[in-house]
Amino acid sequence: MSKPVKKLCVLISGNGSNLQAIIDEIAAKRLNAEVCGVISNRPQAYGLERAKAAGIPAVCLDHTQYDDRDTYDKALKLQIDEFGAEGVVLAGFMRILTPEFVNSFSGKLMNIHPSLLPKYKGLNTHQRAIDNGDSEHGVSVHFVTPELDGGPVIIQSRVPVFEDDTPSELAERVQEQERRIYPLVLSWYCDGRLVMRNNKAVLDEHELPESGYASD
Ligand code: GAR
Repeated sequence: MSKPVKKLCVLISGNGSNLQAIIDEIAAKRLNAEVCGVISNRPQAYGLERAKAAGIPAVCLDHTQYDDRDTYDKALKLQIDEFGAEGVVLAGFMRILTPEFVNSFSGKLMNIHPSLLPKYKGLNTHQRAIDNGDSEHGVSVHFVTPELDGGPVIIQSRVPVFEDDTPSELAERVQEQERRIYPLVLSWYCDGRLVMRNNKAVLDEHELPESGYASD
């Protein structure tokens, strides 16, 4: 008998290339999941079109229409619960979440961040890697905890930084890796192999090291 499919809600703010990778991996039957809903905080996010094209319920909760972060996050939680989500996937969702929201989805909330955490938390990660003369850069997938970009890392993927790289060239190289590792991590999660325990990522009952699963 095949395993039950897990319902994932994907949160976006923009292009949605990670969302597309997830949709494609589900279609290719490499990810035992269903995207039960997509939520954007920005009305113009192209990812909303990607969701609609795939027949996925897509909703915009425009943060500018809410009085404060707390009210917004309550509405967000309500919508996620309405979708019946068993996992929440931040895929380019460019908002800081309240600790109440994060704690209510503890162990079920994952994020992809374009740096080798704990390096370059926050914004403009590609520019910062170039400015610092780094020879390598990359991307991390992690469980989300109340500390911004600070939750336990599940996996990282590294890319080289070339001398004449622009931030957008570097971003493109990083995003190619993103589209590989996020669906992989979600397949572990949906197959019940990946959990967060005592603030650590645990895969197949093995606590992952600080830099996550060795992917190189
Ligand atoms: C991705 O590069 C993701 O790592 C980044 O936003 C981009 C979204 O692309 N996320 C963050 O910076 C979160 N702090 P996408 O909309 O095409 O998936």
